Amino acid sequence: MRDRTAVIEVRNLHTRFGRAVVHAGVNLVVYRDEVVSIVGGSGSGKTTLMRQMLGLDRPARGSVTVFGCDVHRGDPRELARLRTRWGVVFQEGALFSALSVFDNVALPLRELRILPKDLVRDIVMLKLEMVGIEARHASKLPAELSGGMSKRVGLARALALDPELLFLDEPTAGLDPARSENFVSLVGTLRQELALTVVMVTHDLDTVAALSDRVAVLADHHLVAIGTLPEVIRADHPFIESLFRGERGRRALGAVPPELQVS
Ligand SMILES: Nc1ncnc2c1ncn2[C@@H]1O[C@H](COP(=O)(O)OP(=O)(O)OP(=O)(O)O)[C@@H](O)[C@H]1O
Ligand SMILES: [Mg+2]
Repeated sequence: MRDRTAVIEVRNLHTRFGRAVVHAGVNLVVYRDEVVSIVGGSGSGKTTLMRQMLGLDRPARGSVTVFGCDVHRGDPRELARLRTRWGVVFQEGALFSALSVFDNVALPLRELRILPKDLVRDIVMLKLEMVGIEARHASKLPAELSGGMSKRVGLARALALDPELLFLDEPTAGLDPARSENFVSLVGTLRQELALTVVMVTHDLDTVAALSDRVAVLADHHLVAIGTLPEVIRADHPFIESLFRGERGRRALGAVPPELQVS
């Protein structure tokens, strides 16, 4: 049975930018060792929700606790410790273009200021190996990498501090189907091996179907459905119907028993 320890608790979250309401009462609990995918239309507030879980954006109302710590009101020292327990791959790739692959992955380790150089080197090379980047690429700059390799390096950097929790925002965006599948299977393997809890934002239904234990659907400023993929598909909501009705949706649902699929 899955561990029911709550890792993230989002309570009654309200967000607005100026007059635009983004979230109007979002509630979500993420449990240890599960992969939760957040899906929703473009501009529905997925990235914002993830940034709020990271304490980077402040909600108008509501709270987010991660490992029991309120990310918006917690003690700064406790928050600094908390940040070493999660890794993030941001939507915009976000490798530092002036730093080599090696230095990008080393960055979070060097920021700790306690690890000797040799150990940093060993950890970086280990993380690169973990994501399937060969040592000969370590001195390359991000511009010299393919999209798939950049994603892997971003993942290696997110894993640098051995996080318990991993945030992925559109991890397969911009990858061709083969590379995307490859990346998804890498994340699937790593989450098993490293016992990771994963929060993933994605448009890609194949990725959702392949990795998610539960899916949370953001529409109309709320999470309108949260559950396993078959449960979510059955939810009665126009956005969900449109999402799973198209060809992409049907393909992603290949793994789901026919009796559970929407017609
Ligand atoms: N810092 C900001 N200032 C003003 N508006 C913002 C800001 N950040 C996000 N928004 C607005 O909030 C809404 C939600 O944005 P968000 O980036 O969270 O959407 P998203 O669901 O991640 O979209 P996408 O699928 O395109 O990545 C959008 O309308 C966006 O324009
Ligand atoms: Mg986004």
